Amino acid sequence: MKTKKIIIFASGTGSNFQALHQSPLLNDIPACITALVTDNPGSGALAYARSHHIEPVILSPVDYDHLDDYILELDNKLTALEPDIIALAGYLKKIPDPVVHKYRGKIINIHPSLLPEYGGKNWYGLRVHQAVIENKDKESGCTVHYVSEIYDDGPIIAQAKVPVSDDDTAESLAKKVLKQEHKLYPKVVKQLLTDKQTDPDQTQ
Ligand code: GRF
Repeated sequence: MKTKKIIIFASGTGSNFQALHQSPLLNDIPACITALVTDNPGSGALAYARSHHIEPVILSPVDYDHLDDYILELDNKLTALEPDIIALAGYLKKIPDPVVHKYRGKIINIHPSLLPEYGGKNWYGLRVHQAVIENKDKESGCTVHYVSEIYDDGPIIAQAKVPVSDDDTAESLAKKVLKQEHKLYPKVVKQLLTDKQTDPDQTQ
């Protein structure tokens, strides 16, 4: 059986990237993380990729005078990488629409809230957890969803919940949610790679 290629996109620490790379769940299927795409040359994700011999691809729209040139470069790179699945793991740039169209059903994202709550442009990091605390929500969690043209708006694939305690702070809640993310993401990636097809229409 052909080894499935997983491409990670990450901008920051890369703990979800690491969780995917180290997950025993992905050891018993023919799958391999073959490249990391990042817009941030100083990211922990890039350092991890380099130290684990995972192909690093540094690409950022800010380095291009014309957005179309960036999109073409990204498209060419992805064509060469032949991804079976593209997993965004804390990737802060928007995936250009032509790339979303080409890989629809193969690009997924993890978000630290129970979408559709606290999703969309500018909902990331601690501000998500801060809002959960301020609204006195009793539960929060994380969501894996297909990527569409709109931030955090594609069909939901899976969610994991965590209880919010009265003494939780944004920081403590972030830790609890991240722990769930590290469990949920490998499960979902495995499920998608072992399903006959990854088709967002079938999961709505
Ligand atoms: C995670 O909370 C993820 O849900 C969000 O960005 C964060 C990335 O964290 N999309 P890390 O870089 O994987 O530690």
